[in-house]
Amino acid sequence: MVTSFPPISPKVPRLLHGADYNPDQWLNYPDVLKEDIRLMKLSRCNVMSVGIFSWVSLEPEEGRFTFDWLDRVLDAFKDNGIYAFLATPSGAKPAWMSKKYPEVLRTEADRVRSLHGKRHTHCYTSPVYRRKTAVINGKLAERYAHHPAVIGWHISNEYSGECHCDLCQAKFREWLLAKYKTLDRLNHAWWTGFWSHTYTDWDEIESPAPHGEDAVHGLNLDWKRFVTDQTVDFCRHEIAHVRSFHPELPVTTNFMGTFPGLNYWKFTDLLDVISWDSYPAWHNNKQTDSELGADIAFVHDINRSLKGGKPFMLMESTPSMTNWHDVSRLKRPGMHELSSLQAVAHGSDTVQYFQWRKSRGSSEKLHGAVVDHEGSEHTRVFQDVKKLGEKLDKLDEIAGTTAEPEVALIFDWENRWALEDAQGPRNIGLHYERTVKSFYQPFWQEGVPVDVIHMDGDFSKYKLVIAPMLYMLKQDTAERIERFVQEGGTFVATYWSGIVDENDLAFLGGFPGGLRKTLGIRSEEIDALHDGQKNAIVMDADNRLGLSGRYEAAELCDLIHLEGAEALAFYEEDFYAGRPALTVNLYGAGKAYYIASRNEASFQKDFVSKLIEETGIAKVLDTDLPDGVTAQMRTDGKHDYIFLLNFTEENENVALPDEVYTDVLKGTRKKGTVKLPPYGTVILRRRHRAE
Ligand code: GLA
Ligand code: ZN
Repeated sequence: MVTSFPPISPKVPRLLHGADYNPDQWLNYPDVLKEDIRLMKLSRCNVMSVGIFSWVSLEPEEGRFTFDWLDRVLDAFKDNGIYAFLATPSGAKPAWMSKKYPEVLRTEADRVRSLHGKRHTHCYTSPVYRRKTAVINGKLAERYAHHPAVIGWHISNEYSGECHCDLCQAKFREWLLAKYKTLDRLNHAWWTGFWSHTYTDWDEIESPAPHGEDAVHGLNLDWKRFVTDQTVDFCRHEIAHVRSFHPELPVTTNFMGTFPGLNYWKFTDLLDVISWDSYPAWHNNKQTDSELGADIAFVHDINRSLKGGKPFMLMESTPSMTNWHDVSRLKRPGMHELSSLQAVAHGSDTVQYFQWRKSRGSSEKLHGAVVDHEGSEHTRVFQDVKKLGEKLDKLDEIAGTTAEPEVALIFDWENRWALEDAQGPRNIGLHYERTVKSFYQPFWQEGVPVDVIHMDGDFSKYKLVIAPMLYMLKQDTAERIERFVQEGGTFVATYWSGIVDENDLAFLGGFPGGLRKTLGIRSEEIDALHDGQKNAIVMDADNRLGLSGRYEAAELCDLIHLEGAEALAFYEEDFYAGRPALTVNLYGAGKAYYIASRNEASFQKDFVSKLIEETGIAKVLDTDLPDGVTAQMRTDGKHDYIFLLNFTEENENVALPDEVYTDVLKGTRKKGTVKLPPYGTVILRRRHRAE
């Protein structure tokens, strides 16, 4: 039985709307700061993230603190009903610190220590940096944790990168020692006998380097794990020093979608609420807006899944253009509202921007912002933000509601690291992320909610689990998948699965390792195709899925043997023509499908549609959605909130199944056909559908 989650802050039990606010750039412009407050209220913004890069404004010289400006900002917020996520400033350090303590500067993989500059360039290990962070975080917490305007902590900013300094090397060796205990074990796990790379002393181990070791896959993998752990450890350190003054104040740190450098699942226990920064390149010339819409939906769903369905925050998005894209396209009319409500549809309780006011100079002066250099409310962008703010005001009942998907898609960072480092079978692109998204897309199009989880996740609450390209297979994962199928679940695996264990050592005795029995097949070899080369799979007449015809296959074709599974399709060409290309194994009370080749998109569409039918998975609306229109849903167990989102530039109609709906924004009853304008959104409420 689903219920809703408590609000992010009990002080504002509603949807939040706001931006990154950098008043410290404008301290010499008192009129601007005054005007900001008027404009915030006018735009229906109720939350600001403050102080993200303010370290030097808060501590202009070592040990001297200047909080007066921040006092004034937060007091003005309090007087005007605006709330703040207060940031810890560790994302950018003052120049005096780099000068006095060079160890805080990051050393890159080439072992060159960076000069002072930019941001996100500190060492996560440096005791000095940790000490300095502890001091500034502690001072901020002591002064502001109980300030009436403050509702939470924005810890640092977009953690990223890795440091290869001597301090980090020593920490890495410590981490390895704790993991492997003996060098023998490490040497075995990394298969260092290859090329005489066996370590005979812990001190010989160095992080991967372009001019040193980068060929030992196990080392590369453990280094990436270490970088995540060290970043998590730094984040934990930051949190400890704000927590003690007000343990209930929620903490978050802003993630970057599917950023490859950090395994975000390792942060989830530390954080009270997940947040992320979304910058899709709408209206580009490579993808339609609806294809991109589905891709972004996938990332929103990761963020909702990270804390088991708990609402997340859209911490940053642009109200207009993004100045670091190849081309800074303006959001077409309607797109601002659509992309913002899309986040809410997938479980965000906030819509926030980078940034409130365009900087006057430096690197982001041309990035979109709510308030332009022109300075007034009379801009298209400001008016779009205001209109959205007015709509969000009417959606407060949605805050705290969640989703209850019956489908889980596995997207796993460690698997991705191993797979992308593997050297073969297709060095011009294995396309892990794109492949997982290609399985997400048809669910989005059918209006079927999906959780996006990692291989360590709990599968038991789903009817269907899909794990594209699970190259790395942990033993425990294989066992849990087997149990899931035995107990009646439907599981789907693809080519290039179950190749290595968690140390990136190939399974002996047949692929796909621990999934061989569950899937009832053995993969003997995999053919990689050049771009442009094609094969096809032909559906068997009378296959039990009821699919027909042929589908083009490209890039990867796995050559498998049946070991209990039944073939549903066969390869059309090449020396493996006639061999099985799609199989199902009836196992225990469930079914396990194996897709042997990378097929054209229409295969995923048809296959998923049959799976939905076969497993009885509920669509948000039992109706046919036009191409480019999706239906997503949030619920509190009493009401369902249905978001119809039109990612096309056309008017689209959705025929509603016969139930009682209320248009939440208009407050009116709705039945029959919903008309969606280009980039339009309609939000409907209905009684929760009991299973
Ligand atoms: C990131 C950062 C922000 C800003 C925006 C610009 O998300 O967190 O400080 O640089 O990008 O898009
Ligand atoms: Zn370092």
